[in-house]
Amino acid sequence: KTFNIALIPGDGIGPEVVAEGVKVLKAIEKLDSSISFTFTMFPWGCEYYIDNGKMMDDDGIDKLKTFDAIYLGAVGYPGVPDHISLWDLLLRIRKEFDQYVNLRPVTLLNQSLTPLKSKMEKDIDFLVIRENSEGEYAGAGERLFKGNQEEVVLQTGVFTRKGTERIIRYAYEEASKSNRTLTSISKGNALNYSMVFWDEVFDEIGKEYPDVKTYSYLVDAASLYFVTDPKKFEVVVTSNLFGDILTDLGAALTGGLGLATGANINPEKDFPSMFEPVHGSAPDIAGKGIANPIAAIWSVSQMLDFFGEKEWGEAVLSCIKDMLKETMQLTPDLGGSASTGEVGDRFVELLNEY
Ligand code: NAI
Ligand code: MG
Repeated sequence: KTFNIALIPGDGIGPEVVAEGVKVLKAIEKLDSSISFTFTMFPWGCEYYIDNGKMMDDDGIDKLKTFDAIYLGAVGYPGVPDHISLWDLLLRIRKEFDQYVNLRPVTLLNQSLTPLKSKMEKDIDFLVIRENSEGEYAGAGERLFKGNQEEVVLQTGVFTRKGTERIIRYAYEEASKSNRTLTSISKGNALNYSMVFWDEVFDEIGKEYPDVKTYSYLVDAASLYFVTDPKKFEVVVTSNLFGDILTDLGAALTGGLGLATGANINPEKDFPSMFEPVHGSAPDIAGKGIANPIAAIWSVSQMLDFFGEKEWGEAVLSCIKDMLKETMQLTPDLGGSASTGEVGDRFVELLNEY
């Protein structure tokens, strides 16, 4: 089977880590004659914006439409306002391709990686399912009386019934088929329209899944439990903004941004899904060759799962686990002294031995 992958390496460390992910895919191609990949590079990002006045080609969405997956590094760099780089490339792709599910595992792969005291690996192993198409990131708002003392700025959360039901149903399905509990994280006490609605939908859809044990927490309390009692969580469903913030906290509990991955999924497969590390372009370390490529390699594992190549997805995750035991072979963010490329090379060795 051939999978056609669109590469958008993007800005800063994006191209550095994507190169290592591609190395891994090419190694798999060599090991398994039944799989092949094609790679098509798109040079979109902030440099492209500075040269062309736009983050991607006008027909960029059309160009991406036919791929099986998009593999993205990171977008955003000093010199281009972040709200432009984010909205005109990353969020545009998520929205146009209706990638309404954002899957972000919070999984501790090695006990030494957590700042929490005496937490066992199995104690931190959950999946955050973040709403990825609307909510607080709907982009609805207005600035009234701009610059005046009376200025009023509105940023409206948009929660449609369709959008809310489909993400919550996806989460119930995931919890049900993997026999895990489902926790909804919201804020119905303060957000008296949107989150009251969210909680109602969570209860309604729950009636279709009597087998799934559910919990519901306010986002502030949930943040506390992430740290004090992470084993409470198995599958979590939450809104766009809360999911964004909570998964960085999740990353902090499990080894940092150098390890955190996120898949932007269009479950109906009407359009390509997109795989990317959670981290950004890290301008502070870009060009130094020390970015940790493991988050981007974990994205490759998620991509393989999505392609139905579960055995390879698991193989990649298992090699990441082995890799994390070899501290000195890791990048500086994990206490090692290896370069980005050395981590990728070592990873391919582990995969060959797998
Ligand atoms: P960031 O994730 O780029 O960096 C935060 C901190 O984590 C930095 O100290 C960085 O050195 C470190 N870090 C991140 N990834 C790392 C890796 N792979 N290995 C080692 N250390 C790593 O977030 P920041 O600084 O807030 O944003 C920088 C730019 O990236 C901004 O323009 C922002 O808009 C953009 N951004 C893009 C995202 C995306 O494309 N999905 C996500 C987050 C931010
Ligand atoms: Mg984020």
